[in-house]
Amino acid sequence: MPDHAAVGNYRNDTLVLGFSDLDRLRRERPLVLTGGRGVFVSDERGREYIEAVSSFYCVALGYNDAELIEAATRQMRALPMYPSGAHRTVPVVLELADRLAAIAPIKNARIAFATTGSEANDSLIKFMWYGNGHTGAKARRKIISRRGSYHGGTALTTGLGGSAALQESFGIPTVDHVYVSQPAWPMAGLPGESEAGYTARLAEELRAAIIAAGPETVAAMIAEPVSVSAGMLPPPAGYFPAIKAVLDEFGIQLFADEVVTGFGRTGNMWGSETFAIQPDCITSAKGLSSAYQPISAIIMSPDFHDRMIAGSKADGWLAHAGTYHAHPVAAAVALKTIEIFEKRDIVGHVRRIMPLWQAALESLTDHPLVGSIRHCGLAGAVQLRREGHTAADTGMKMGGLGQATYEAGIERGVLTRPIGESIVMAPPLIIKPEEITELTTRLRQALDDVLHAPAA
Ligand SMILES: Cc1ncc(COP(=O)(O)O)c(C=O)c1O
Repeated sequence: MPDHAAVGNYRNDTLVLGFSDLDRLRRERPLVLTGGRGVFVSDERGREYIEAVSSFYCVALGYNDAELIEAATRQMRALPMYPSGAHRTVPVVLELADRLAAIAPIKNARIAFATTGSEANDSLIKFMWYGNGHTGAKARRKIISRRGSYHGGTALTTGLGGSAALQESFGIPTVDHVYVSQPAWPMAGLPGESEAGYTARLAEELRAAIIAAGPETVAAMIAEPVSVSAGMLPPPAGYFPAIKAVLDEFGIQLFADEVVTGFGRTGNMWGSETFAIQPDCITSAKGLSSAYQPISAIIMSPDFHDRMIAGSKADGWLAHAGTYHAHPVAAAVALKTIEIFEKRDIVGHVRRIMPLWQAALESLTDHPLVGSIRHCGLAGAVQLRREGHTAADTGMKMGGLGQATYEAGIERGVLTRPIGESIVMAPPLIIKPEEITELTTRLRQALDDVLHAPAA
C-alpha cells in the first residue's frame, strides 16, 4: 500500500492537470495542498496561504466547517449512495429540492440536480431543446452568450462565452451560439459615452445579433449577473432591464448562470436579486454545498417545466439522468449549507464586511502596478498595468502580469486567480476583518515583488 503520509514520493507527471501548463508539470511539482482551516489552506511543506478566491470561487464557508463534515458523515452512515432517477430517490434529495425552491428567486421553481456547474448549464440547454422540441419551437436552438464568459468545460458549455483561448484549440462546435459583448462599465465605454448610452448600445447590439441570427432560431441568452469568470466585470445599472426588454420582444428566455454569484457572493443570496434580473432559469453550484461535495442545480420556472412535462408525456419519460446527480451525501451537505446560511446569517455577514473588503481593495490603487480596482459584494479584481506598456489582452490564457502576481502571491502566502492582466478574488464568505487586512498586506507584498523583479 502506498504511504500517503509521506509526501514527495509521487511522480508529478502521471497526473494530467487542467488549467495547467502540462510541460511545466513534467519539470516542476505543483502546489500540493494538505489541510484547511477557515480561510486558510496549508501545503505539504506546512506553509499556510489565505485562499483569496475560495479555491475556484466555491468554498463559501471556509475549509473546516464541522457541521458540513458532520452532515456528510451522517448521510454516509445512513445511506452512502443511491442514485436519484428511474422513479427512485432518497429523502434528503426531496427535502433539498423543496428548500432550494423556497429560497430561489423564481416563483414555484422546479429543481433538477447535476454534479458540476458545467453539467448544470449543459443540462439546462439540453432541457431547453427538449421542451422547445415538444412545444412547436424546435427551430429555436441558438443560445446567446457574452464573449469572454465562462459557463463550463463540457464540449457544449465551452462553446458558451466565446473565449477563443478555451475554444479554438479544442475545435469546439459553435454552430448554435450567438455572441455579444461582455458588459464592462465604465471600462468598455467609448470616449464621452454616458452609462445610459453604453447600455443602449449593448441593447442595440443584442437586437442586431438576434435579427442577424434569425429570431425564430434563437432560444435563450445565458449570462452571469456579474461576470466574475470574465474578470469581475460589472454591468452598467440599466443593463439587465434593457436586454430583458429586447429578449422579451423576440420571445427569448434569459438564463442566469449563478454558479459563482449564487449563495451570497454579491451581498444577496442571488446575484439575480442584486442586479434585479428576472430569469426563466438559474443554474447553481459551488456555494450550494460550499463545494465540500459536488452538486449543482438547475432551477426552472413553472413554464419551462411545463414544456418538459409536454416532452415527457410525448416520450413516456425524461430520457436524461446521471449516476451522481443529487448524490445523497452531496445533497445532505447542500441542505446543511442552506441551513447554515440561514442560522448564521451568512448574507448579513457579507453585507456587513463588504465595505471593509472594498476599501481594502481600493487601498491598493496607489501601487504602481495597479491600474484600477473592480468589486461587487465579496468579490473583486485588481487590474494590473506596467508603466510604458499597453496591457496585452491575454484573455483567459496564462502569462503576463496577472500570472506573475499570482505566482508572487504564492510565495507571500495568498492564493488568487489570474485572468489576463488582472487578478480576481472572492474569499470565503466567512472571512473576518483582520483576515482581509492580512490578505491585502500579502497582496501588496506580492505586487512589490513583481514590480522589483528583474525583467525576464
Ligand atoms: C460562471 C461559471 N459557470 C459555470 C462554471 C463551471 O462550473 P464547474 O467548474 O463546477 O463545472 C464556472 C466555473 O468556474 C463558472 O465560473
